[in-house]
Amino acid sequence: MLGRIRGSAIYIAALSLLHCLAWAAEDLQAQRSYAVELPVGFPKPRIPADNPLSIEKIALGRFLFYDVRLSGNLSQSCASCHQQARAFTDGRPRAVGSTGEIHPRSAMSLTNVAYATALGWANPLLDSLERQALVPMFNERPVELGLSGKEEELVDRLRADLRYQRMFAEAFRGQSDPFTLGNIVKAIASFERTLISGNSAYDRYVQGLDDNALSEEAFFGGRLFFSERLECFHCHGGFNFTASVTHEGNPFDETSFQNNGLYNIDGRGAYPPDNTGLFEITRIPSDMGRFKAPTLRNLSYTAPYMHDGSIATLEEVIDHYAAGGRRIHSGPYAGDGSKNPYKSNFIRGFVITEEEKQQVLAFLQSLDDPEFVTNPRLSDPFQLWGCVSDCNYDFVVTVDELVRAVNIALGESSLAVCLSADPSGDGDPTIEEILQGIHALLAGC
Ligand code: HEC
Ligand code: HEC
Repeated sequence: MLGRIRGSAIYIAALSLLHCLAWAAEDLQAQRSYAVELPVGFPKPRIPADNPLSIEKIALGRFLFYDVRLSGNLSQSCASCHQQARAFTDGRPRAVGSTGEIHPRSAMSLTNVAYATALGWANPLLDSLERQALVPMFNERPVELGLSGKEEELVDRLRADLRYQRMFAEAFRGQSDPFTLGNIVKAIASFERTLISGNSAYDRYVQGLDDNALSEEAFFGGRLFFSERLECFHCHGGFNFTASVTHEGNPFDETSFQNNGLYNIDGRGAYPPDNTGLFEITRIPSDMGRFKAPTLRNLSYTAPYMHDGSIATLEEVIDHYAAGGRRIHSGPYAGDGSKNPYKSNFIRGFVITEEEKQQVLAFLQSLDDPEFVTNPRLSDPFQLWGCVSDCNYDFVVTVDELVRAVNIALGESSLAVCLSADPSGDGDPTIEEILQGIHALLAGC
């Protein structure tokens, strides 16, 4: 990569100008280990010993997450079903795979997925993000990304990409051939561990950062949420508003699956045959209709709700709980969910006034984190955000950022320190790209 740019007078002039300013060269070793910045009060997520976080893996995983080459027919990426603007879900009741097959369940939000104990709506056996990523890739029932039988083709596709040649080598240093499925999922999981959301109005209030962050309405809604009348907190408690969390120092990782009375098809508790919840895995009758209580963060972006997207709005969700279950009057799923024998004891129903309902709604909305759904660091890296060499996406290019770009070009830093330095995607900030960065430095971004 050096030969191409070394001889250029402009390049050398730019380089010496930048080095004259005596900015320290990026130290590659210093970037080896990396800790995600956590909101106040958030515990440290568990990171597997064989996949420590690094900015190189996170950057690579971000590209892979958004790359349609991860589907058999080049039509879908993880981000097709996990869209940032929707808190990493897709707005559909049930997900649709790359070949048009309909998934029985709804795509889940990836909000704070680093803390999840069991991944998926009702699978106690799937407990690592690395292994989970293989499911959408190779699933055949239904087909999601449709890579079954195409493992080699996938690896060849990625290997042919100049940017990936550099990024895989930098993320998995010292490996003679870093293009492996194991590395692909390690990188994706690393990126997923950065999907941290903790800057909602509620968070700013409880962190003591802003006493006025929570409206009075939301404050009273919170009281109701945490009351023995509504019982919500039993299943949606803790910093992530779900009972199923794991983190460093947690003595008991709890995974709880509950039946919240959505169906009762035969009067004996049956759920629709393609969505029996935990029962599908354990075959224990009382596990019928038990699903993971998902996080309640970012709900405004994640409608429709429940494992099959069968509740359209949050008002209806509150009505559902107030009735102690859902009554379906006609059709194949007719039945009174409130009489489901496997329903949790906490789903008893309650009386709630219209005003209180609005308060609960306001509380749930106070868990929305607009920064999370717009954070450029989590966005599609194939799209240039800001301008060339704007490494931290603040629409300003600084000398420090240009030094980074030059160091990447010289091979002294990994591409991960400034993805915007190489918008053309050949893995190397070219002279033209560096000049564009200089232009942005001088003329504004
Ligand atoms: C076709 C749409 C689709 C695609 C593509 C897709 N997912 Fe999903 N994702 C889903 C659905 C549906 C679920 C719920 C699965 C279940 O419970 O059976 C889910 C669940 C998850 C979960 C579990 C979240 C939790 O809180 O338990 C993770 C993590 C995840 N997906 C990551 C990924 C990654 C990584 C990729 C790309 C390799 C990906 N998904 C591609 C639809 C999709
Ligand atoms: C007994 C445990 C339990 C209690 C109590 C409970 N929930 Fe749930 N909640 C669940 C489970 C389990 C699901 C997923 C059910 C499914 O999809 O079949 C869920 C789903 C939800 C969803 C949909 C989330 C999504 O992303 O689709 C919302 C919203 C919700 N609950 C809000 C509440 C509120 C508000 C209360 C209090 C009135 C409450 N829950 C009480 C267990 C519970």
